[in-house]
Amino acid sequence: MENVHVARRRRLLAAMEGGVAVIPTAAAKHRNGDAEYRFRPDSDFWWLTGFHEPDAVLLLCKGRPDGEQLLFLQPRQRDQEIWTGRRLGVERAVERLGVDAAFPIGELQAQLPKLLRGAEPLYFKTGARPDLERPLLDLVATLRTRVREGNPAPERIVDPTPLLAEMRLHKDAGELATMREAAAITCDAHVAAMRATRPGVTEHAIEALVEHEFRRRGANGPAYTTIAASGANATILHYIQNDCALKAGELMLLDAGAEVACYAADVTRTWPISGRYSPPQRRVVEIVLEAQRRSIDCVRPGRCFQEAHDVAVRALVEGLLELKLLTGSVEEAIASKAFRRFYMHRTGHWLGLDVHDAGAYFVPRSTTQHRDLAPGMVVTVEPGLYFAEDDTTIPAEYRGIGVRIEDDVLVTPEGHEVLTAACPKEIAAVEALVGSG
Ligand code: GLY
Ligand code: MN
Ligand code: MN
Repeated sequence: MENVHVARRRRLLAAMEGGVAVIPTAAAKHRNGDAEYRFRPDSDFWWLTGFHEPDAVLLLCKGRPDGEQLLFLQPRQRDQEIWTGRRLGVERAVERLGVDAAFPIGELQAQLPKLLRGAEPLYFKTGARPDLERPLLDLVATLRTRVREGNPAPERIVDPTPLLAEMRLHKDAGELATMREAAAITCDAHVAAMRATRPGVTEHAIEALVEHEFRRRGANGPAYTTIAASGANATILHYIQNDCALKAGELMLLDAGAEVACYAADVTRTWPISGRYSPPQRRVVEIVLEAQRRSIDCVRPGRCFQEAHDVAVRALVEGLLELKLLTGSVEEAIASKAFRRFYMHRTGHWLGLDVHDAGAYFVPRSTTQHRDLAPGMVVTVEPGLYFAEDDTTIPAEYRGIGVRIEDDVLVTPEGHEVLTAACPKEIAAVEALVGSG
């Protein structure tokens, strides 16, 4: 069977109109002093190679007779590897990664003039790797001054992102197996966090517990910075400070997902710290659950993703009107966007190698026409309601409540599959779990 990455590179080559694609992995990131972050490859590069080392650049040269798929990577150097860890090396890259040829990364600049001769267009994503972009653009400029010598230079520099995004949007069976694993680990971690919850436990202890479960099970770690938000912290959408103690009577919102082989899960649950939702908390949770149910029901092939958002908004607005937190009719509250005070984000996004994954949300060249869902796409469905603690225009009993419920949903030929269904969210199931560990 052909190596999946070879096949993906062939697909990209087939989609290219000609020329050469230059696709670097991510830069190693300095943290502070002599410390670096753990390396995370660029998602496009990873999707095309499955290669996890920094300092590597993939070149796809359409129609090159000596081989189309070239990889520039760090050579093996024993004195370096003692510090940085084992390297695959140039010699093994062809066999292991299925590229046609491999070269030391130090030779890239010297080889590029030859490889870019006649390349039309040059596919390169600008803005991501300024350190590589500057010399590359300088080289293109130089080549353009030499056209009289019979060296045709690239006229156009084209972003390969849309081609790759379209391919990454439709997950294959191997990707889905990995995403199921990320989902399973994430669900178990949320359950462990619910069990361990009681007043006095800290947000950082909850964060540590879920990330312990991620790492223990072999995940890279969290796919994004864990949001462990108790009480009114849950009304801050990207709260990542996670340094407060959990208080009796308040809610705990956990938005945490494992990353497995660079694929993300993205799950949110909101549970009562004392084990029982108060009546106002329960009313809010029921509204969000109903919005999520209706929204997930829209996730089907041939339906558009925007519908999942519109349906969630309608359900939330109906609930807010019942609670008398909005006035007027459903239609008026939707049209005036009055609900945005309490629901200010979208209901979901593509999920995959990136948490907010690659893929267009609109049909090509349209800014208004939403695309249809198709089997193999994975989305999140994550409605919420957030009531600021200092909002004196609403009854005191709702102030400081933040609720979001988020699942990962695969579009299947028949409808959908909730990949994170193993994580309880219904009121009775959640109340039974909290504090039981
Ligand atoms: N955790 C990021 C998001 O829910 O979109
Ligand atoms: Mn999300
Ligand atoms: Mn999330």
